[in-house]
Amino acid sequence: MPIEPGKTPFQVDLRLHLRERDEDRDLTRVICELATASRYIIHSIRTGELGVAGTSNLYGESQLKLDVLADRIIRKRMLHTGVIAAIASEEREEIQVVDPDGKFSVAFDPLDGSSLVDVNLAVGTIVGIYKGNDVFKPGREMVAALYILYGPRCTLVYSTGHGTHEFAMNALMEYTLVQENIQMAEKANIYAPGGIRNQYSPAVEAFVSHLEERGSKLRYSGGFVPDINQILIKGQGVFLYPHLRNMPRGKLRMLYELNPMAFLVEQAGGAASNGHQPILDIELEGIDHCEPVFIGSKADVAKVEGLIKTLDS
Ligand code: F6P
Ligand code: MN
Repeated sequence: MPIEPGKTPFQVDLRLHLRERDEDRDLTRVICELATASRYIIHSIRTGELGVAGTSNLYGESQLKLDVLADRIIRKRMLHTGVIAAIASEEREEIQVVDPDGKFSVAFDPLDGSSLVDVNLAVGTIVGIYKGNDVFKPGREMVAALYILYGPRCTLVYSTGHGTHEFAMNALMEYTLVQENIQMAEKANIYAPGGIRNQYSPAVEAFVSHLEERGSKLRYSGGFVPDINQILIKGQGVFLYPHLRNMPRGKLRMLYELNPMAFLVEQAGGAASNGHQPILDIELEGIDHCEPVFIGSKADVAKVEGLIKTLDS
């Protein structure tokens, strides 16, 4: 419908969207506080120091000042909600128990892809939200998941199990609705292949050759959030960070990265697998549990599962 001159179109902001869907008020609060945290994080990314903090995380990756800052910002906002039981963060070795009787727990990667900050490529925050005080559950038990993408625009994609929805930050730093109920097509015409190709297994090599022969185009940035965002928003595509000969469990972490993204992609009609079973059904072995991942358009995830069964076993 054309907009009358001088009139701004009515915009649905994040809180209103959650309220209209009758989401739990405390869950709404958690999600809105995460949105608030992202305002401070994007400001820090745009203006803050790029230096290293002089520390490293559980995975031996050196922490940037921004990683540590993003972790602190989110933690503070989560405590502010008054409903949090436990906080797990990729930047900390231990889970912080806030209140064992709290209503929700969160697990997050505060600044995913932070090695891309110095080259000014997009990075993101990934969050999974669980009921109660335990995050050691299969991802299917999450009550909500979201990511925030700090690109030329700042966008937020969330799901509470009723579809996957995209919001963009406006000039007032509020998130307004861009797209409701994102839907992914069965087949991919873009693919994002992580890892080193000469370390691929026969099945993964065959899968990538199949995609290339079909004319799928390579679209890989090296940041998990922008790479997943690209396939979600384009409505098709497949991302893989497979089992490598020198890294048989892959690289990406179940708790902080894979479970939330698998939840969002499944809610958009896509699929996420470790090559054998859905990511969301895998029992967590520990906070640092990694799995290979094939995520995106459903038919292509099924295709690679089939190839793994015949060529890699
Ligand atoms: O945190 C993990 C991450 O930075 C992801 O954002 C990205 O998909 C992946 O690692 C890239 O890893 P590498 O460049 O080491 O293959
Ligand atoms: Mn990460």
